[in-house]
Amino acid sequence: QFSFFGTGEKRKMPEKSKTYEKSAPKVYIRTFGCQMNVRDSEIIKGMFSGGEYKFVDAAEEADIILFNTCSVRQHAEDKVVGSLQRLLARKKKNPDLIIGVLGCMGQRHGELLLKEFSQVDIVAGPSSIYDIPVLLGRAVNGERVVAAEDRKRPQKGVDQGVRNGELSGFVNIMYGCDNFCSYCIVPYVRGREVSRPEKDIVKEVKQLADGGFKEVTLLGQNVNSYGKGLTQRIDFSDLLKAVNDVPGIERIRFTTSHPKDAGKKLFKAMKDFDKVCEHVHLPVQSGSDKILDLMNRKYTIGEYLDKIKSLRDMIPDVGISTDIIVGFPSEKGSDYAKTRKIMEEIRYDSAFIFKYSPRSPALSACLMDDVPDETRKERNNELLKIQKSISRAKNKEIIGSDREILIDGVSRMSNGELVGRTRNNTPCVFPGHTNLIGSFVRVKVTGSSPFTLKGEII
Ligand code: 5AD
Ligand code: SF4
Repeated sequence: QFSFFGTGEKRKMPEKSKTYEKSAPKVYIRTFGCQMNVRDSEIIKGMFSGGEYKFVDAAEEADIILFNTCSVRQHAEDKVVGSLQRLLARKKKNPDLIIGVLGCMGQRHGELLLKEFSQVDIVAGPSSIYDIPVLLGRAVNGERVVAAEDRKRPQKGVDQGVRNGELSGFVNIMYGCDNFCSYCIVPYVRGREVSRPEKDIVKEVKQLADGGFKEVTLLGQNVNSYGKGLTQRIDFSDLLKAVNDVPGIERIRFTTSHPKDAGKKLFKAMKDFDKVCEHVHLPVQSGSDKILDLMNRKYTIGEYLDKIKSLRDMIPDVGISTDIIVGFPSEKGSDYAKTRKIMEEIRYDSAFIFKYSPRSPALSACLMDDVPDETRKERNNELLKIQKSISRAKNKEIIGSDREILIDGVSRMSNGELVGRTRNNTPCVFPGHTNLIGSFVRVKVTGSSPFTLKGEII
C-alpha cells in the first residue's frame, strides 16, 4: 500500500523524561492540502487555546510537531514522508519530542504509519479531530496512539477554532463526500457526507461578522448537495440566502461545486443574492465522455457545456475556474485532444491541471495505468501553457474597466503595493496606504499579467 517506506525499524527510544510538567509544551502545526485542512488546523489550534499548550511558528522550537496531511496525490504524501524522515535524527536525540500525523494520510494509512515510522507518536484521521487533545495527552505520557476508524465526522455545534486572518474566514458547511469519483481518495479519508445544521453555520458566520470579518468561504467537497440527511428541508441555495442575510458579511464565496449537482437554481441564487460573488469553481476533470464515465463523474461533456452556457447567460461576467486531470488510465491522444478543445472553447479564468496519481483504495487504482509518465508531463505542460495564454488574454480584455476590490494586505510579489481580489476572484495589485487593508475600494484596471491585474484606486 505504501509506495514509500519509513525506517521500518522497531522503536528503540529511551524513556521519556517529564520535562513537560515544568512548562506549557510548544506545539508546531504544519498544514498540507486543501482549504478543509486549513480550517481543520484552525479548529485543532482552537482546542488548545486554554493555555496548557503554546503554539509556535518554527518546528525547531517545538516540543510537539503535528502534520495535518493530504493524500490527494502521491506527491502530497511524499512531502510528509520527507519531513518525517528529516525528523528522525532529532527524535532519537530527544525522545520527548512528540510527532503526530493528522488528517487524510493519518486516516489512509492508520497503524501502518506507526509501524513504518518509529518517530511517530500520534496518528489521527479527520473524523477523529475532536479526539486530538486526549490523544496528545496520552502521547505526552509515552503512549503511541492511532485514531483512524471509518466513521462520519461528528457534529460539534459551532466550531470555535482560532482564525488565521481577520478579514476572510472559511466555514465548513459539510464534511465528507458520497460521490466516489473513481480517482478520488476523499470519501475514504473524510468519510460519508454530513451536512452541518443551518443554525450552526449561520451562528458561526455571525461570530465572524461580529469579529470584523467581511468575507466567508463556505466549504464542502460538494456544496451543491448541502442539506442531504438533515431533518430540516434545506438546500444550498437556501443556505446562501441565510448567509446573505447576515449583516457585516459583504462577500460570500463557496467551494467546491460538482457539475452534476450545480444548476439553474444555484446560478439564480448567485445572481439574486448581492453578497454571493460571481465566481464558481466547476471542476470538469476531462473533456472526453469516455474518461468522464470511467471517472464516475455522472455527467457528459455536453451536459457540462449546457450548464456553463446557462450560467453565462444568467451572469455574463462570472468567473469560472476548473480542475483537470491528465493521463487518467486509458486516456488516448484523442481523449486528451477533447480536453484541450473544451479548455479553448470555455476559456476558463483559471485552471488547476493535475497529473493523474493512483490512490488505492479509490477504484481507478485497479485500472491499468497505461499512460507513460512522459506523456502525462507533456499533456500537463501543454494545458498549463494554453491556460496561461487564455488568462493573459482575458485579463487584458478588462484593462480600462473598474472593479470592486476587498484589500487583503500587502502584495508579496509587487513591491509595497496592496493586493486584493475582484468579486470574480482575480488578484489585483495597486499602490495604496496600508491603512486601507480590510476595506473595499474601486480600482481602475490599468495593466495585467496572466494571473494578476494591476490597477489604481479611483
Ligand atoms: N490524481 C490526480 N489529481 C487528482 N485530483 C483528485 N484526485 C486525484 C488523483 N488521484 C484532483 C482533481 C480534484 C482536485 C482537488 O484534485 O482534479 O478536483
Ligand atoms: Fe483535502 Fe483531499 Fe487533500 Fe484531504 S486528500 S487534504 S480532502 S485535498
